[in-house]
Formats: sequence, C-alpha cells, structure tokens
Amino acid sequence: MRIDIITVLPELLDSPLNHSIVKRAKDKGLVEIYVHNLRDFSDDKHLRVDDYAFGGTAGMVIKCEPVFKAIEHLTLQRPYDEIIYTSPDGERLNQHIANTMSLKQNIIILCGHYKGIDHRIRESLITREISIGDYVLTGGELAAAIITDTVVRLIPGVLSDEQSALSDCFQDNLLSPPVYTRPAEFRGMTIPEVLLSGHAAKIADWEFEQSLERTRLLRPDLLEE
Ligand code: ADE
Repeated sequence: MRIDIITVLPELLDSPLNHSIVKRAKDKGLVEIYVHNLRDFSDDKHLRVDDYAFGGTAGMVIKCEPVFKAIEHLTLQRPYDEIIYTSPDGERLNQHIANTMSLKQNIIILCGHYKGIDHRIRESLITREISIGDYVLTGGELAAAIITDTVVRLIPGVLSDEQSALSDCFQDNLLSPPVYTRPAEFRGMTIPEVLLSGHAAKIADWEFEQSLERTRLLRPDLLEE
C-alpha cells in the first residue's frame, strides 16, 4: 500500500509516522508513506498557498492552484483509489472505514488547514472526507496521522500476531475484555480465576461475556448498530 500525505506542516507528521508499528510496517516494505509539502507546488514568489476568503469570512483559505498541482503530480504517476480530505464535517472515522481503507492500493490524504480549502477542490478532486471526531483541530495533520496509524496496523503482515488485529476493540462492534498480567495478586487485588484455569474454551467464553457486558455498560450504541 502507498499513502501520500499533502500538508503545509510536514514536520507535524515526523514523529507519528516514524515510530512503532507504522515504522515497522515501512521497514518491512508493507507500506510506503510519502509526505509532500504543499508549498513545493506553489507558484507564488513567497510560496503562499492560502488567500483571503471571498465574501469577507474571517480566516485564510487554501488556494486551488497548489492543491490541483500537487494532486495532479501524483495522479499522473499512478491511479489512486481514494483522495481523502481531513475535515470536521467529513464522515466520522471508525474501525469499519479503517478496515475498508486498509484494502486499498494507493491513497492520498490532503490535510485541511486554516479556515478550510477552496470548495472547488472538494467538489472536483476529493473522493472522501473524513473527520476524527466532533471537535475542531488546528489542522488536519493529526487527523492524517490517526487515519494512517489505524489503517496501517490493519494491513496483513503488519502486526506480528494477526489475531491481535482481529480481537481489537470495535472489530465486531464490541469493546475489548479486561486484560491482566503478572503477578496474579497485587496489593491484595486478584484476577478472575478462569484466566488461571488454562481452559481455552472457558477463557474465550469469559472474554466474550466481558466484552458484551462492557459494551452494554459503556457503549450501548454499538450494540444497536
Ligand atoms: N481538521 C480539523 N478538525 C478536524 C477533525 N475533527 N477531523 C479531521 N480533520 C480535522
């Protein structure tokens, strides 16, 4: 899989894309991630990529010209399955969207910034708008990092134990069961007996019951879905 991220603040993506599981996936050759600075596609002598909004709305708006140039530069080289724009008014990211996205070959993520982007970009280039939640970030870089992280860990072969993605929280619209590690007793607090039984089927039943119970209690909306 290949992910191209277009941003005015490439530095913001340095750390999330170069550590932990995303780094391991890149090192294993399972994903290629390229971060492009939108300013490199500006014709402006000061490399400006934004301008005042028509109609007097406060705040700066990303211009058409550098974004069209950046996206055309990429799409001329290979086909893209999805051109995503990060925006609070997009569809809310969830595990189902991440699963779907992890099966794609090539995707572009355009990070929003300032007051937004010229609407003509959204109408003619963007195929999907994604929000990471009902709150407003300063820019789309953190959203792009989150989308990338959640998608990359689902690419087959990225996690050392494939099971661990299958048993993820939300994978079946259920929250994860509680987990414990040694010691079995800490400051008088013990762990559920069944986990020490060595009986795989009983443990699986217990985990499922716990998942169901926690989902009922904490996220009943998931069960309604
Ligand atoms: N840009 C600003 N806020 C955002 C959000 N909640 N999700 C995605 N992109 C954003």
